[in-house]
Amino acid sequence: MKTKRTLDIIVAGEVNPDLILREVPPLELEKELYAKDMDLLLGGSSSITVFNLARMGARAGFVGVVGDDFFGRFCAERLKWAGVDLKHLRWTKTVRTGLTVWMTRGDRRAGVTYAGTLAMLRAADVPSEYLQRARHLHVGAYFFLSSLHKGAPALFRRARSLGLTTSLDCNYDPTEKWDSGIRRVLKETDVFFPNEDEAQRLTGQRNAHAAAEELRKLARIVVVKRGAKGALVSSEERTFAVPAVRVRAVETTGAGDSFNAGFLAKFVRGASLDECAEAGVESGARAVTKVGGTAAFE
Ligand SMILES: Nc1ncnc2c1ncn2[C@@H]1O[C@H](COP(=O)(O)OP(=O)(O)OP(=O)(O)O)[C@@H](O)[C@H]1O
Ligand SMILES: [Mg+2]
Repeated sequence: MKTKRTLDIIVAGEVNPDLILREVPPLELEKELYAKDMDLLLGGSSSITVFNLARMGARAGFVGVVGDDFFGRFCAERLKWAGVDLKHLRWTKTVRTGLTVWMTRGDRRAGVTYAGTLAMLRAADVPSEYLQRARHLHVGAYFFLSSLHKGAPALFRRARSLGLTTSLDCNYDPTEKWDSGIRRVLKETDVFFPNEDEAQRLTGQRNAHAAAEELRKLARIVVVKRGAKGALVSSEERTFAVPAVRVRAVETTGAGDSFNAGFLAKFVRGASLDECAEAGVESGARAVTKVGGTAAFE
């Protein structure tokens, strides 16, 4: 029996809230200070991507792990509000939901993360029956997802064998080894979305073009995100640059995750690479016009 593809895309990865305390004076131990303003926002690269995908009209599901606590319920509520399918969100009673606390002053910020459930996603959390219902699998923040590293190549192979296309974002590698088995996953990846710095660190190349060409030997399509310079797309046929959309940037959290969402919303509909890349830079630019990764998509 053939399963109906009722989802366009499944995003698997991390989800956590960002607690932002604004305009904090320099910290001093044994002193209590006041912040001028506060926000509790949906953070997490993978969760920002899936939230924005759903808001752009894609039928999207999210697989990740949260604690059975206030912050877990907060994340689930935000994703549900956006229209994300949470049938396979895993709730755990033994670990608390991860959290990042940001403190800002002017345009600078410092953050502290409690990892909690952040890196707990395993390949086994993504059932084949669920994959069969979708057309595409995206994994965000690969380097954070330490429990996924071992099973990731087989997960991507499994997705492909079930007829899905695959994509991967790596984000910065906190171990700075730039390995964690990512090359084996890239061989099973249709679209890879590093930013320029990550692409160069992964390859040891000194510019985005050379890095993209090298990564293209592994993944089918490589999209290097270059902030206000736009993006570079490299496929078997050609390599081309897409300029950024000019906007007044307010705050850049989630620009890359939103780029992925814009690109993938088109990609899952079979659009050309030019259209996907245009949608990516539009979506990235939209994200930087508001504070937080999802505000511009609400
Ligand atoms: N200042 C900006 N003006 C216009 N567009 C921008 C700006 N910054 C980012 N973008 C758009 O967003 C895309 C992704 O941003 P960036 O290259 O910073 O990704 P990233 O480093 O992966 O971001 P993230 O911090 O979310 O992981 C860029 O390719 C660009 O299209
Ligand atoms: Mg990024």
